[in-house]
Amino acid sequence: MMVSLAEDLKLALDRAAFARRLGLMPDPWQGDLLRSTSGRVLLNCCRQSGKSTMTAVIALHRALYHPRSLILCLAPALRQSQELFGKVLASYRALDRPVPAQTERKLSLELENGSRIVTLPGTDKTIRGFSGAALLIVDEASRVADELYFAVRPMLAVSGGALMMLSTPYGKRGAFFEEWTKGGVWQRYEVPAGRCPRISEAFLAEERRSLPGWVYRQEYLCSFEETEDAVFTTEMVDAALSAEVAPLFGEGAA
Ligand SMILES: Nc1ncnc2c1ncn2[C@@H]1O[C@H](COP(=O)(O)OP(=O)(O)OP(=O)(O)O)[C@@H](O)[C@H]1O
Ligand SMILES: [Mg+2]
Repeated sequence: MMVSLAEDLKLALDRAAFARRLGLMPDPWQGDLLRSTSGRVLLNCCRQSGKSTMTAVIALHRALYHPRSLILCLAPALRQSQELFGKVLASYRALDRPVPAQTERKLSLELENGSRIVTLPGTDKTIRGFSGAALLIVDEASRVADELYFAVRPMLAVSGGALMMLSTPYGKRGAFFEEWTKGGVWQRYEVPAGRCPRISEAFLAEERRSLPGWVYRQEYLCSFEETEDAVFTTEMVDAALSAEVAPLFGEGAA
């Protein structure tokens, strides 16, 4: 795919144009994300809304147009990080490898401009050792173990790199839920299925009929539901613990 210098400059400066070059017409929220300059992004987006695809576009753009960038892809399990990385690789190939690869493997891509995109496994023992990340992407973030999240954050310390966490919700717990609800520096995107033009009303109606209510709300309505097998709701537990009642077991027990 030949690109003129003028067009290349446009693609360098405009990630939405870069996405279009890849054949993706960004949805409105995707356009906002592609134009965002925030270094802290949370995407609470329904299933199949395109959060992995758009993040992969951002990762590839970073690698191509910002030499010597280290980009890390993390998910609860290697297979899921690999899926995200696979989207990056597919786009890179679709563009006919505009910056040549030094090595192109199943789990990593190293470009001649010094940029690297690396897939991380989902265990904190093996991921330590990376530092200076320009961009850290956490896919399926609500299901990533907190220890893992805490282990990867320091990789941004010296580089001042960007962090993007993308997920559907998974209960009122874990780092993704905490970050989504507690305020802070994050730019947040909430995208329920109604805002995804590729998910039809008819399909959603069918899902609503077939799935338990809480599953439907979690997968399609960006809702942090109580844990499926919880007997007590989080609110009930919080209320109980904040009253004068001391817990019988565990921390604080006599
Ligand atoms: N703007 C777009 N134009 C056309 N297709 C798109 C667009 N955004 C996403 N898609 C397509 O929608 C499908 C789902 O995208 P993707 O896998 O990125 O969604 P997701 O939100 O990560 O889903 P999941 O929660 O299941 O992981 C893919 O086939 C992707 O190519
Ligand atoms: Mg995904």
